[in-house]
Amino acid sequence: MTAGARTAGAQTAGAQVASPLSTSPQTASPQTASPQTASPQTASPQTASPQTASPQIVEVELGERSYAVHIGAGVRHRLAEEVQRLGARRAAVVSARPPEWTPDLGAPSLFLAAADGEHGKSLAAVEGLCRRFADFGLTRGDVVVAVGGGSTTDTVGLAAALYHRGVPVIHLPTSLLAQVDAGVGGKTAVNLPEGKNLVGTYWQPSAVLCDTDYLATLPPREMANGYGEIARCHFIGAGDLRGLALAEQIAASVRRKAEIVAGDERDAGLRHLLNYGHTLGHALERATDYALRHGEGVAIGTVFAGRLAGRLGRIPPERVAEHHDVVAHYGLPTALPHGVDDDRLIALMRLDKKAVTGLAFVLDGPRGAELVTGVPRSAVAAVLAEMPRDAPHSRR
Ligand SMILES: NC(=O)c1ccc[n+]([C@@H]2O[C@H](COP(=O)([O-])OP(=O)(O)OC[C@H]3O[C@@H](n4cnc5c(N)ncnc54)[C@H](O)[C@@H]3O)[C@@H](O)[C@H]2O)c1
Ligand SMILES: [Zn+2]
Repeated sequence: MTAGARTAGAQTAGAQVASPLSTSPQTASPQTASPQTASPQTASPQTASPQTASPQIVEVELGERSYAVHIGAGVRHRLAEEVQRLGARRAAVVSARPPEWTPDLGAPSLFLAAADGEHGKSLAAVEGLCRRFADFGLTRGDVVVAVGGGSTTDTVGLAAALYHRGVPVIHLPTSLLAQVDAGVGGKTAVNLPEGKNLVGTYWQPSAVLCDTDYLATLPPREMANGYGEIARCHFIGAGDLRGLALAEQIAASVRRKAEIVAGDERDAGLRHLLNYGHTLGHALERATDYALRHGEGVAIGTVFAGRLAGRLGRIPPERVAEHHDVVAHYGLPTALPHGVDDDRLIALMRLDKKAVTGLAFVLDGPRGAELVTGVPRSAVAAVLAEMPRDAPHSRR
């Protein structure tokens, strides 16, 4: 981890003066993916199209912990405004992206370079960050800014929650998955050698800036990763997002997550909905030793959830087919990978947090999606056996 303290000097908050910290949207390295090229296959940098220029704001309504999620091209430039609104005197920026991707903060700041990825989600990383905050003299009246994928927002969010028993944090998620999911909702966590996300807490951000310009450099597979979460939103009440521009798909996914989180901040029930497609998805991630990206597992898990709901008589065949069509529309895998063993998948699904007794899934039905417990093993085995499978040598 490298660091450098810097001061804003005479710059005023929100001013778009030329400096490495206030790169204008036109010259910033991240550029906007236009809606026409928003499919997972074509995430190459494109110029912002005027139709997508107006950013959207989604409010996460949590009483005194409420905050706004800004979505659109260039919204990162609202950072100084947000820092000023919080009354922060100084800021610690923890970023997995190049320093110039963080715009001017309008306040003295410390820049700490971080790296995305599961190996960086550790208690040691949290300690390292907190020590740098202490060296810098950060107080509860200041702010932490996290710039990166979900692994970075999770780790930095936890450091912000723990340092001085809680410092405000602003997230600037740079992956599609982090923009639609990890950066919003207040869950923070790091891993232990014993398992993923085992140590964490709830710490809501004070603002989230989902700048779609950042996504221009995201590798296609990481776009697909995020689209897996967007696809599952179709079945948990977000509506059909297929025809929308990318920023609108993100906004609609965030809006649905915000409603769910507002109704169940601490995972007592409703928040289960966000795990649509995840029971098989998580099992597939583990069974393939994480060769499948999370969103790809969720995509296949969503197709499976549709088939299982159909088999249990909860939804008609057309709705089962809709699960396949939506997942395929986003360019995501719909078939089980070659070589995964059904019994192992079932054993892994029994370990799911929701499966207190037997097998449990979030399934579509006449009242919409809901948690269904005690699903018979025979039904799960039969649906797995009928799932399409990749050919032996196909590669993802
Ligand atoms: N807190 C929550 O509610 C929540 C929800 C979902 C997932 N998560 C967590 O989020 C993490 C997954 O997030 P993720 O998929 O963003 O993973 P990640 O942070 O590892 O990022 C994925 C990859 O994309 C790269 N990347 C990110 N932004 C980029 C950009 N703009 N340009 C080029 N490359 C870029 C990263 O370097 C990395 O290689 C997991 O640790 C998961 O547990 C948390
Ligand atoms: Zn997920």
